[in-house]
This record gives sequence, structure tokens and C-alpha cells, in this order.
Amino acid sequence: MFHKAEVIDNFLTVEDFKELSGLKLENVNQDEKKVYHNRIFKDGTIESSCMENKTIKRLHSNYHSIAIKILKKYAPLKAELYQYSDFHIVIAGSHFSFPIHTDTPNKLLSGVVYLTPEKNFGTTLYSVDKKKSKNIEWKQNRALFFSRTENTPHSYKSDSISNRITLIYNLMTVDIKSVCRVEKTFFPYVYLKQKINKYLLKYFNINF
Ligand SMILES: [Fe+2]
Repeated sequence: MFHKAEVIDNFLTVEDFKELSGLKLENVNQDEKKVYHNRIFKDGTIESSCMENKTIKRLHSNYHSIAIKILKKYAPLKAELYQYSDFHIVIAGSHFSFPIHTDTPNKLLSGVVYLTPEKNFGTTLYSVDKKKSKNIEWKQNRALFFSRTENTPHSYKSDSISNRITLIYNLMTVDIKSVCRVEKTFFPYVYLKQKINKYLLKYFNINF
């Protein structure tokens, strides 16, 4: 049994897709990834690295209602915890691989939009016991959304041929205690797991 996820083709408008696909990014080594952090807070404050502020504002106004609707569908109580949106651009080298993991609790809604190139590998979802997997095939401008729980394992990797460039569109909070209350998870466990996973990922490229 796979966790619930929403796949939307042609997610971005032609204009937004063209602009994000054409961003000037530094190249990365084949086993590395670089994340360009861009975010907009509820009060309109913007933090940007590779996009102009007006682009972040436009993305927020174009897609926030869609994203919040998906969040309300899958985790209605989490929608009330929303504080800011990430519009990160991730460039993963041609041989980069990110292990099976569940997202951190600060992500209320996790989203990825496949940008460039034309061919690569999509994100893979796993059954709770991680014995079965399902790849959400790479297709330019296809979006994949889900709301994390402790049982939403997934992974991604590049196809060993090309760099893999995606837009990571997350609805976020800093109120982890409330997330745990909604998820009925034990805050110290979730907190500790997050700390340990950072270490495991850095030194062993694994997560638990
Ligand atoms: Fe993830």
C-alpha cells in the first residue's frame, strides 16, 4: 500500500516553466547536489537566492491556492499550521542519489515539479514496509505532491546521464510540536530522528 500522492501534469504555466527551466545555475559534480533556497512568508517577506523577488511573488500567487487545496484534502488540520512556502531549485548531478527517507515534519505539503532535462528519473514512492516501489515517471512540468507522515518513504536519483533539475515546492511551518499533535506522533522521537538522520545522511547516505 502506497501513501496518497497527487500527480499533476502541466503544473506550471508555460511562462513560469520557461523561466524556471532557464535559470542560470552553477554546474555540480556528478555525485553532488546544490539547493537554491527561495521562500515567501505569510506576511510577504521574501528570501531568495536564484530567483527575482517578483518571480517568487508570482509563483506564490499562481499556485498557493492549488497547493493549500491539496493539503486540505490530505491533512486538513495541517493547513492551519501553514507559515511559509519554499520554491527551491535543486540541481542534482548526473550520478546523484538520495536515499529512502520520510520528509521532515516542518514540511506540511511536499511538492516537486520536474523541470529539465527532457529525460531523467522521477521520484520513487515506497510501500510502508519498503518492499514495493512505484516510480512517478519523469515528464517535464509534472508535479508530485504528498503530505508527509512517518509512513511516506520515497527517494530520488538522477539517471547517470544528465543533471536533474527540479522545483521543490513545499508548504512549511516551524511549529513542529503542533505537527506532532496533528500526526499523533511523539515530539521527542521525531526530533531525535531528525537529528540522527542528518548525521546518517552526511556520513553514510542513508536514513531511517
Ligand atoms: Fe523528500
